[in-house]
Amino acid sequence: MADAAFWDSRYAGGDYAYGEAPNAFLASLDYAPGGRALVPGDGEGRNGVYLAERGLKVETLDLSAEGVAKARRLASARGVAVEARQADVLTWDWPIAAYDVIALIYLHLPAPQRRLLHTRALAALKPGGRIVLEAFTPAQLEKQAEGAKGGPREAALLYSAEDLRADFAGAEIDLLQEIEAEMREGALHVGASAVVRLVARKV
Ligand SMILES: C[S@@+](CC[C@H](N)C(=O)[O-])C[C@H]1O[C@@H](n2cnc3c(N)ncnc32)[C@H](O)[C@@H]1O
Repeated sequence: MADAAFWDSRYAGGDYAYGEAPNAFLASLDYAPGGRALVPGDGEGRNGVYLAERGLKVETLDLSAEGVAKARRLASARGVAVEARQADVLTWDWPIAAYDVIALIYLHLPAPQRRLLHTRALAALKPGGRIVLEAFTPAQLEKQAEGAKGGPREAALLYSAEDLRADFAGAEIDLLQEIEAEMREGALHVGASAVVRLVARKV
């Protein structure tokens, strides 16, 4: 699994690796202003900043100190408050029933850690709160071979709809689909890509 040093070196330049605009799926959904949002693995902060601009109270977590510093800079440049913390989502002290939205955007972990993260995230939602998740599927390996940029190159880190249905079996699944999306997120997510999208609601 990639560690903090890997992500620090990825984020070391001035550019935002995945751009400054939010993930398109995250941005396609409605959010009630004033709600609390958590964005684990927010990298350089584009998605946390977006949710703050939509009027949510946002906390973000990331392994990378470089990413967290850039997330704070992006929030400041855009004039919004984001509480950005350097933390490992696997050891962080997750609150219970605290959030209205938890956004998991391309946070790829091996299966045992993925299940643990998803269990913690569900417990951290208020009743009625939503998990919004997008991740690359195993079909992305073929897309990479065809020239698409983005996603882990190890099958064990890629997520299927079936994985997510099992992980969120205790929630209402509002949306779960594997699709091909045309990606234009900074320099590192580019081209026709195979992703899975999920909206799961805590009951
Ligand atoms: C592919 S990047 C995506 C960043 C961001 N979600 C986005 O879409 O722009 C994956 C991010 O997950 C973070 N990450 C990976 N494992 C993590 C962990 N155990 N705890 C916290 N962050 C983690 C990395 O540091 C990296 O910033």
